[in-house]
Amino acid sequence: MTRPPLSPEQEAVYRLIEDTREHVFVTGRAGTGKSTLLQHLAWNTSKQIAVCAPTGVAALNVEGQTIHSLFRLPIGLIANTQLDQSDATRKILNAIDTLVIDEISMVNADLMDGIDRSLRQARGRRSEPFGGVQIVMFGDPYQLAPVPPRGDELRYIRDHYRSFWFFDAKVWNGEAASDGILDVGSYGADLQVRELIDIHRQSDQSFKAMLNAVRYGRVTADIAQILNDTGARTPPDAADDEPPIITLATRNDIVNAINRRHLDALPGRLQTAAAEVNGDFGRGEAAYPADAELRLKVGAQVMFLRNDTSSFGEPPRWVNGTIGTVTRIAGESVRVEIDGEEVDVEPAVWERFRYAYDPGSKSLSREIVAEFTQFPLRLAWAVTIHKSQGKTYDRAVIDLGSGAFAPGQTYVALSRLTSLDGLYLSRPLRPSDIRVDPDVQRWMAEMRAARPPAS
Ligand SMILES: Nc1ncnc2c1ncn2[C@@H]1O[C@H](COP(=O)(O)OP(=O)(O)OP(=O)(O)O)[C@@H](O)[C@H]1O
Ligand SMILES: [Mg+2]
Repeated sequence: MTRPPLSPEQEAVYRLIEDTREHVFVTGRAGTGKSTLLQHLAWNTSKQIAVCAPTGVAALNVEGQTIHSLFRLPIGLIANTQLDQSDATRKILNAIDTLVIDEISMVNADLMDGIDRSLRQARGRRSEPFGGVQIVMFGDPYQLAPVPPRGDELRYIRDHYRSFWFFDAKVWNGEAASDGILDVGSYGADLQVRELIDIHRQSDQSFKAMLNAVRYGRVTADIAQILNDTGARTPPDAADDEPPIITLATRNDIVNAINRRHLDALPGRLQTAAAEVNGDFGRGEAAYPADAELRLKVGAQVMFLRNDTSSFGEPPRWVNGTIGTVTRIAGESVRVEIDGEEVDVEPAVWERFRYAYDPGSKSLSREIVAEFTQFPLRLAWAVTIHKSQGKTYDRAVIDLGSGAFAPGQTYVALSRLTSLDGLYLSRPLRPSDIRVDPDVQRWMAEMRAARPPAS
């Protein structure tokens, strides 16, 4: 797939990461090209990097490994438990120059400190943050939050941290030595925060300003009225000549019910494609990148889960997030109509990677430990707002149902759209749908005061 050249601000952040050993947090509003920059880094860096992410699906997206499997960390609270490290794990952690973490907003403070301690221990450099490894994090705290802690975990976090966010981890404020495990004399790691400013997903200035207002919880009556007036339209029927439209809903049960209702209503024969899973793909369906059993009928509305990689020299026929309609199902291929053009889609292979240390070349290598093969399609009359993270849509119905329940949820939903013309609301936005996490506001304000964004 052809990649857009980096913009000057993306290039500057890339140079900072590539030319220095600074710890960097790359953030920015939805659509500013964080994921694009991460990909560029992974392809072009000359450093020994390991790419990881907090969840299995996020790791697959960046062709990395989950944090827990890379570091062999225990599930749940890590606190000051002893970390057992095998020879193999130690070797890998010793070979890393730069650790890249995507979706950092979902990493909690306890895990951040676990990463720090693990690297210090493996590398035998106990008084140096992250044992001397450069940390590069990508994410937007105004979008996804960590899974809220409960029970003992919640009590522990409350007692030890200002908040559960990664930016409140002890490693950033120099308390990491206080648990007695690390040498006295540790100091807090300096973090360079770089905010990308230019939005590439939307071009209309007034829509960008409205998204900004939603992001920061500063929606005025005027803005709410424009969004609600625009959104208060009946979505066009599937029968129309229009390209299909997707519903973004808050909860899984709503999404499943919408997809089931539409699939049942189609007249044709139901066909099921079973995924082929080789090797250890983690526990349960949640770790899978696509359905284990994909149920389809001719006429089904589907979303692509991968980019088209087979159109040499031509623009890709689809990207991750493209919506289409199934027109034929035949064994090894599913025909999908996208904007009036038909394409034949074959099963795709998702590879689960693991880093290994190669003593010969004294470098890190990446090996495939498991494969998941399935059509890169999912029923797409509806998806959860959570699963729509990172995606781009021209049109969508946003169904906030009984209300947005997480900070940033409404912002994520609205910011998927390329323009206001594509907005349909199943009910008007309410003030309570616009939620901003106070810890994010506090920390980002501190960061901006320390280093105002560059434009
Ligand atoms: N330098 C660039 N020039 C042109 N288009 C770009 C550039 N960088 C990114 N884009 C495009 O802008 C869109 C959004 O980029 P990307 O998904 O990387 O943003 P993001 O910051 O990761 O967004 P999100 O927070 O929603 O995940 C994509 O379609 C991408 O191809
Ligand atoms: Mg992204």
